[in-house]
Amino acid sequence: MNEENIHYLKIEREKSNSIKKLFSKNKIIEKKYRILRNQDYVLFPLKEEIYTQEKIIKIIEQKPFMEIIVSKPIINEKYKFKDVIGELKNKLDSNYLYLIPRSFDIIGSKKSKRFAIIEFPESTDIEIEKLNQIKKTIAVALLNVNKSINSVFEKKSEREGAYRTRRLKLLAGEERSETIHKENNCFFKLDIKKVFFSPRLVHERQRITHSGINENNIVLDLFAGVGSFSIQIAKKCNSRIFAMDINPDAIKYLKENIKINKVEDKITCFLMDVKDLLNKNNDLGKRLKNKMDRIIMNLPKNSIDYLEVACNMIKKKEGIIHFYSISGEPYPLKNINTKFKLKLEELNFNIEKVLTTKIVKTYSPYKYLTVMDVKIK
Ligand SMILES: C[S@@+](CC[C@H](N)C(=O)[O-])C[C@H]1O[C@@H](n2cnc3c(N)ncnc32)[C@H](O)[C@@H]1O
Repeated sequence: MNEENIHYLKIEREKSNSIKKLFSKNKIIEKKYRILRNQDYVLFPLKEEIYTQEKIIKIIEQKPFMEIIVSKPIINEKYKFKDVIGELKNKLDSNYLYLIPRSFDIIGSKKSKRFAIIEFPESTDIEIEKLNQIKKTIAVALLNVNKSINSVFEKKSEREGAYRTRRLKLLAGEERSETIHKENNCFFKLDIKKVFFSPRLVHERQRITHSGINENNIVLDLFAGVGSFSIQIAKKCNSRIFAMDINPDAIKYLKENIKINKVEDKITCFLMDVKDLLNKNNDLGKRLKNKMDRIIMNLPKNSIDYLEVACNMIKKKEGIIHFYSISGEPYPLKNINTKFKLKLEELNFNIEKVLTTKIVKTYSPYKYLTVMDVKIK
């Protein structure tokens, strides 16, 4: 199986032993993968459903010698998917054990509902009814082993359409898709079937929130969703935020999340196509023009098509655009830099300074979610 990048905790080697005990206590190491070492550092593979948890983030934040990175895992051949496999004993033919997903996303919180979203290998020659039955058996085993999960959904599509949602099918547990997710002391009410939300972006949201935004800054969150960036920035940085989205459900939840997180005086949200900001008669567009200190463009598949909006709203030379995009092999960062530069030139703008270009995570085999933090002129 072609393994995708996973999150590792990178720790200075001499400090790693004391930390290892803490990890075993908190059960955060993904034992399916090998711990990697070189002369200076140790890389601990993290459980996918755990590295987003607040207590872990807090431990990492307090220790400057630790850092989260993404990298290709190496399978730990000694490890077998013990718990789930144990649960499936006498319930599933051992020929089908390879179908057990190796990782899954968890959305929700203990106080609300917790959903696991799993994905099965695509090509299999098992007859469809048999396959569906196997998937259900595996999902029930996952529920039995992870008592804090209420439902297991199968990912039936990639993110699609303007709203960037994906089709999900309930395999086991309650038929309910609304929950409240907790992240970095913020609460996000959302429906996993109706809006975009990715727990895997937790570190990116933290990076932006801690990137020097201050209370005098004005932030434009162009593709705000349920407010995953906006709310964290409002709470941490106290800045003024304009958040927009084209999905009515996203805006409905964003409005609720603004109240739940008590940031009513910081965020104003709009149900709109952000391209409308460029219309001559759009009052909001006229008001925001060249005044934004930060612009977040988290619409990776199409962000390039909206660069003109950002260029017209950003404070020239000073403001920073956080530009997310999908880029492929062989040189994903070089490719995206070139694409960005060419588009700017076409729009009659130029780069003042590129502050960051990096891979955020794997998007699909050979494709990456990348981010550029850029000042333009
Ligand atoms: C990848 S999601 C990001 C959501 C949020 N920023 C997050 O990180 O959780 C992109 C969002 O952009 C919205 N969107 C897509 N096209 C848009 C447009 N033309 N104008 C405004 N919002 C748009 C989608 O509805 C979706 O919620």
